[in-house]
Amino acid sequence: MTITIDFFTDKERSDPSLLFNRETEIKEGLNYLLNEGFLLIEGLRRTGKSSLALSLAKITSVKTLAERYGVPSFYYPIIISLEGVNSTEELVNTIINSIISNYSWALLNNSTITDEVKKLINSVKELLSSYKGYQFNLNTPLLGGGIGKNEGKVFIPLNFRSLLDFLYNFNVLVIFDEFQIINRWKDKESFIEDLKYAYDKLYKKVKIVVTGSVTYLKNYFSTEYKDVFHGREINGIWLDNFPINKAEEYLRLGLKFYSVNVDEYVIKSGVYNTFGNPAWLNYFGKYYVKTRDLQESLLKSYENMGSEAKKGLTSIRRVRKSEAYVNIVKILLQKGELTCYEISKNINLKIESCQKIAKTLESLGVIEKNNGKYSIRDPAYFSLFQPTFTELSCPKGDGGKLLLNDLAKLKYNSVELSCGHELLIKI
Ligand SMILES: Nc1ncnc2c1ncn2[C@@H]1O[C@H](COP(=O)(O)OP(=O)(O)OP(=O)(O)O)[C@@H](O)[C@H]1O
Ligand SMILES: [Mg+2]
Repeated sequence: MTITIDFFTDKERSDPSLLFNRETEIKEGLNYLLNEGFLLIEGLRRTGKSSLALSLAKITSVKTLAERYGVPSFYYPIIISLEGVNSTEELVNTIINSIISNYSWALLNNSTITDEVKKLINSVKELLSSYKGYQFNLNTPLLGGGIGKNEGKVFIPLNFRSLLDFLYNFNVLVIFDEFQIINRWKDKESFIEDLKYAYDKLYKKVKIVVTGSVTYLKNYFSTEYKDVFHGREINGIWLDNFPINKAEEYLRLGLKFYSVNVDEYVIKSGVYNTFGNPAWLNYFGKYYVKTRDLQESLLKSYENMGSEAKKGLTSIRRVRKSEAYVNIVKILLQKGELTCYEISKNINLKIESCQKIAKTLESLGVIEKNNGKYSIRDPAYFSLFQPTFTELSCPKGDGGKLLLNDLAKLKYNSVELSCGHELLIKI
């Protein structure tokens, strides 16, 4: 890994050399993409799904990287965050704007605009001018990856399928980030039909990457014939938190980058309390470099991660009832495992609402159900709670220790202390 930027950044990464421990996923993703047209990137919250998608776009669009990774053709990147896009109609508009503004190209830090890129941009402009009545106006806000409210927008009279057909004349890679958002769209069925069309007919030249939450994607891209994609096989990559030893390596590497000397106590405590989550480790590392105070850095990292986790939860259902979502997660964190009936009693919520919300949370991969009881699946949601730390000491009396959030004990069966000895915390 060569580092040229801020090591512990909380921004999405678009450079494959800045993705720690994802070499296999990059190779696998490229392989799937080049051989087939479609790739799903799924995984736990804040594990780097968007970053992996961006890196693949960079590898397939930057010549030097393409050569290094053995990618034979160039693909123009179109990176679309579906957060804030409300329909297929808006999506078409967003894609067109993204191409004209060359937004994704710039996002991937491509400095020179090649002839291929110019050709695509000019063709889109020509296409637009062919629509009578449509006033192409460079002063309309160029909306880049997302799009705001509907008011005052001129929609381009082009449907998504025609746009896909048009894009087939060029090699493009379209990233749909946060795909679960389409669940809100009234016209999602026709959008899915168009994606099936791209899958069947356009895969050689229009590559599609979809990232998002776990089971929502499964609902759309299941290989069951009865489901919407009718048995079409789609390759997926699952991103998890780093295993403990890799997370330790990452923290050590980062702290060394900032010339901060630390002992194993800081490393182990940092890793166990952040569950090896890439984003969370970055928050912790950033604050540790700043404050050199373990507890303070952990607390701050919980705050940052907590606000991300809350954002994720409340975006599920447009805020209405969002408190109930958060409360269900919180009560499960406190109590470990509960049935829906028990949850509804604990947080004073109607059992029907509880069942509905629990189902959504389950489909998003936040919680899971085993033998009728719900529990937390993704440790990112531990950050919703103000942590209370306990210092664990080595029973062998060698001075080994670990600072651990009490709630984190729900997650681990055993932990390794700073002395290297293992301590069982669940029997
Ligand atoms: N492999 C990695 N090595 C180091 N840092 C990483 C890695 N992957 C992601 N990160 C960092 O983790 C954070 C989250 O990354 P990213 O936004 O790509 O994740 P995500 O899974 O898309 O998150 P979300 O669930 O919010 O959509 C960013 O700060 C990013 O820099
Ligand atoms: Mg993301």
